[in-house]
Amino acid sequence: MAKDKIAYVCSNCGQESPKWIGKCPACGQWNTFKEIKVAPSSTPKTAAARGGLSAGTSAQSSALHAGKVLRLRDISSKDDPRIDMHDAELNRVLGGGLVPGSIVLLGGEPGIGKSTLSLQTMLNMPEKKILYVSGEESAHQLKMRAERLGGENENFLLLTENSLETIFDHIKEVQPELIVIDSIQTISTEDVESSAGSIAQVRECASALLRFAKTSGVPVILIGHITKEGTLAGPKILEHIVDTVIQFEGDQHYMYRILRSIKNRFGSTAELGIYEMLQNGLRQVSNPSELLLTQDRDGLSGIAITSAIEGIRPFLVETQALVSTAAYGTPQRSATGFDQRRLNMLLAVLEKRVGFKLAQKDVFVNIAGGLRVTDLAMDLSVIAAVLSSNVDTPIESGWCMAGEVGLSGEVRPVNRIEQRIAEAEKLGFTDMIIPKYNLQGFDKNKYSIRLHPVRKVEEALRAIF
Ligand code: TYD
Ligand code: MG
Repeated sequence: MAKDKIAYVCSNCGQESPKWIGKCPACGQWNTFKEIKVAPSSTPKTAAARGGLSAGTSAQSSALHAGKVLRLRDISSKDDPRIDMHDAELNRVLGGGLVPGSIVLLGGEPGIGKSTLSLQTMLNMPEKKILYVSGEESAHQLKMRAERLGGENENFLLLTENSLETIFDHIKEVQPELIVIDSIQTISTEDVESSAGSIAQVRECASALLRFAKTSGVPVILIGHITKEGTLAGPKILEHIVDTVIQFEGDQHYMYRILRSIKNRFGSTAELGIYEMLQNGLRQVSNPSELLLTQDRDGLSGIAITSAIEGIRPFLVETQALVSTAAYGTPQRSATGFDQRRLNMLLAVLEKRVGFKLAQKDVFVNIAGGLRVTDLAMDLSVIAAVLSSNVDTPIESGWCMAGEVGLSGEVRPVNRIEQRIAEAEKLGFTDMIIPKYNLQGFDKNKYSIRLHPVRKVEEALRAIF
């Protein structure tokens, strides 16, 4: 047998190097390079070879013409029919369904609901022969879970196994049309000596599964844990290997779960799916706005509503702020679900441009429902909520807003303004503050909601209070 090759891989980003280096040239992290043994490519004895096995009759037309030079003109550009996951949220995040022969990584912190989501989805797809490989739970545990999720079907096959070689043997035998590996960190191949979950194992197993998916046309969903400390060989390394990375996130104390697309070779990465974790599994939240807003907001100070967009989806998000006199010398600034640095910037703008003295105040900002929002149109609401709390004056419950705030206190235009307005109107809001620059290009009279175009933060605040 050929001698194992040694390589060094950055545990943070997956960058490879022939020799050990202190600082990763790709991600800039220090001391992240770990030695790994790479299976000699000349002797693809087990998993690597089996990764290339064809799934025979179930192979789809999408199987790549690996190793052949093709004329671009001769390649059909017709989209492969996507596999319908019977879950509108998941379909959208995947870019319109699962692409045959693709490999998808479903990442997230332990306990967030990755197994629940994949098990539930697979149980609802009776038309496909599914092989669910679990390296984490026993068959009995999975059965109990499936019962809780209220599903069962003929075509759902379960395998509790950790060896990649054995998994490939079973795949060959049962010829599934879709495979779930739960989780990639519990699977190991004989080709690599280190233990399951190590960088070398994760890389090697994922690569073998990728070869399998590409040659057979059978899609593979890999589940991968991310820990906050990044101790396990993280999905970072896998991100380079797979076609699509979707991430399941949310606060364990809240029932909402957000599915985000991080990388997608077959669709947009701006997509978002929302679920609610219930006793009997995950429920798709098709109208998040109604759930995310405090129903009886009348008379509560420190609350402002944004008509926000994540991905292509508009929904109304509630920003809550609490401003109180600082108990210690250094005031606290804390943001949950919102970028802390952006909060500091907005507070500086408020101080400088509007003249509110917040230096001796603690400021807490929280996005309701455990959401994490990155939409810049949130700026105006954060400022409005902070002020509302500071002066203890509620904002009328029929008002909402959207606007990015610049360093000089100007309200900058936001994208998709019409969609935002329409969503606010649909939910019964009566007034909406929008950036003045957004006024061009659409018919203002089309909407019955009263629009208040503003150029500066001061104007916005004058309109609200
Ligand atoms: P799980 O899918 O096991 O998480 P992961 O695979 O990401 O580690 O989800 C675990 C949590 O979900 C657990 O705390 C229990 C909860 N849960 C429900 O609330 N309802 C359910 O129907 C199921 C199956 C789990
Ligand atoms: Mg799990």
